[in-house]
Amino acid sequence: MSDHPQYKALIFDSGVGGLSVYREIQARLPQLSYTYLFDNAAYPYGELAQDTLLHRVEALVTGLVEQQGFDIVIIACNTASTIVLPVLRSRLNIPVVGVVPAIKPASVLAHKAVGLIATPATITRQYTHDLIRDFALNKSVELLGSTRLVDMAEEKLRGQPVDLEELATILSPLHNQIDVAVLGCTHFPLIKAEIQTVLGEEVILVDSGQAIARRVEELLEISAGEQQESAHNIFSSAPPWQEDALNRTLAQLGFSPVRPYPLQGVLDH
Ligand code: DGL
Repeated sequence: MSDHPQYKALIFDSGVGGLSVYREIQARLPQLSYTYLFDNAAYPYGELAQDTLLHRVEALVTGLVEQQGFDIVIIACNTASTIVLPVLRSRLNIPVVGVVPAIKPASVLAHKAVGLIATPATITRQYTHDLIRDFALNKSVELLGSTRLVDMAEEKLRGQPVDLEELATILSPLHNQIDVAVLGCTHFPLIKAEIQTVLGEEVILVDSGQAIARRVEELLEISAGEQQESAHNIFSSAPPWQEDALNRTLAQLGFSPVRPYPLQGVLDH
């Protein structure tokens, strides 16, 4: 018997990318009850205006927290985290964990240069440029923003293969330029093996998933417990809600089929 109540975690992203973060947290804390929410109505976030993104994340996340009660929120999206964390932290009285590109650990590992692969929005954000200024340790950082890579990860989780030639074309600006690449979008660990193949085994790939999992553990002040047996909930802001291929992947990860976000009205205000 655990001497803790069962903690409930809410994980949020624009699409399936946050599942890469879920995997890391769940491996560390299998006893938590997880709810995953994705805003596919406004996907891709990497091409969304900042004020729209801010309004949507605030409304969707605070709405669900108020309705269902959670102990911790994880914004498993770099694009959103670079702007929404202050407002969520001021609205919610539970810990809010964000994910930002792992520039600091990557710069420690790099001898040549770091590649930051992220969404078009993340590579332009002031937050990202401040991270580079403060933590890149004088290493040069090559920026590569791509929404097509995000789509490829979405497709892979729906059972479609990743086209390595297309991937190589997208990543070609980094070819032979870097020795460490930051996967600065939570979708990219889902296609990590393919990115590694294309960039070459000598390039080290770094993402923030494990650091986020450690942070969640610290904030909840718990350690690994017994695996939660019942399926986790997953909600999306728009149809389709009956995607068999996606639901099969989700079942393997421990989720029930995707259901509609229960408070559609929150975005009207
Ligand atoms: N998974 C997201 C991120 O980490 C956003 C992808 C998108 O919707 O553009 O940045």
